[in-house]
Amino acid sequence: MIILTCPFKLQLLEGVLRRSLPQALPVYGTVMHINRGNPAQHEVVVDSWPEFKAVLTRPCKEVVKDKWDFYANLHATFYRDVDACQAMLENAEVIDWSKAFQLQGIQDGMYEVAKGIAEARHVHLKPYLYQTCLHPGPPASCQSRLKSDFHFSVLNPSHAPILNNAWDFGGNTRSLRYLEHLIRYFPNSCLMNKGGQLVSWSLSDPFACMAHGYTFSQYRGQGCIQAVIQSISKKLHASGFPVYCGVLPENQSSKQALKHQGFRILLEIYYMLIVTPVINLKE
Ligand SMILES: CC(C)(COP(=O)(O)OP(=O)(O)OC[C@H]1O[C@@H](n2cnc3c(N)ncnc32)[C@H](O)[C@@H]1OP(=O)(O)O)[C@@H](O)C(=O)NCCC(=O)NCCS
Repeated sequence: MIILTCPFKLQLLEGVLRRSLPQALPVYGTVMHINRGNPAQHEVVVDSWPEFKAVLTRPCKEVVKDKWDFYANLHATFYRDVDACQAMLENAEVIDWSKAFQLQGIQDGMYEVAKGIAEARHVHLKPYLYQTCLHPGPPASCQSRLKSDFHFSVLNPSHAPILNNAWDFGGNTRSLRYLEHLIRYFPNSCLMNKGGQLVSWSLSDPFACMAHGYTFSQYRGQGCIQAVIQSISKKLHASGFPVYCGVLPENQSSKQALKHQGFRILLEIYYMLIVTPVINLKE
């Protein structure tokens, strides 16, 4: 296993991954962020170079100190050979399975492999299966039916507690810290009302994936998230990022909003796997 640190090789890898979209999306987005200042302090591991068969991105050592923090301990993988993916995920030098972590990817094999390893190691793996939505770009400027008393803005870290309360996966100090980090370092967009109160927002994450779309219930069905999606899509596209996200199959309003904004819902499943170690009462 090789940790790629050479900026020239990382640029080369970005170009190679670009030719493997959409399957490489989360790894590609992470490598793009690494090559543009690396705000999440991630690093890239490949099985071999330059002819790699599997690639994984993860936080640099010492970035995530809390063993239970799967919000920050973000990994993504892409493979050309599922056996190489298996070898990489099994390797204790590559992933520390005694810590909580997330693994994201858009290939069925990575899920099967991770499930098998989790069973063998007796750790808990919870899969979340999303539909992959990709904008063919550039995002169009559609006519908006937004109320004129709403205005666009960007979030600042003081908004994180509001987002944390609204987030289904949130509501704890680790999720709060994660949201503050996203707001501080990655593109986002939001709508506010006349009084400067939040109405609707969308963030993006270290995979350059749009996430955390939300509209307060009293403002739903008025085109708010569509306006926010359009705004953040333009920012991501203008910086050269792919414009994509995952959506739960049953989330009809999100899918409708994304389709209206020109996104295509792909056949590929976006896997988000949350791995947590078994609690050892002796620790
Ligand atoms: C999903 C969510 C962000 C949508 O926000 P919103 O501001 O109400 O969305 P918009 O009004 O911009 O667009 C929603 C579209 O879906 C439509 N819609 C609403 N419910 C629907 C349903 N059950 N089936 C199909 N379409 C539906 C709306 O009519 C609208 O389409 P239209 O423009 O043709 O009228 C909001 O419901 C929310 O915050 N949900 C909880 C969090 C969540 O699910 N986030 C998304 C994570 S991917």
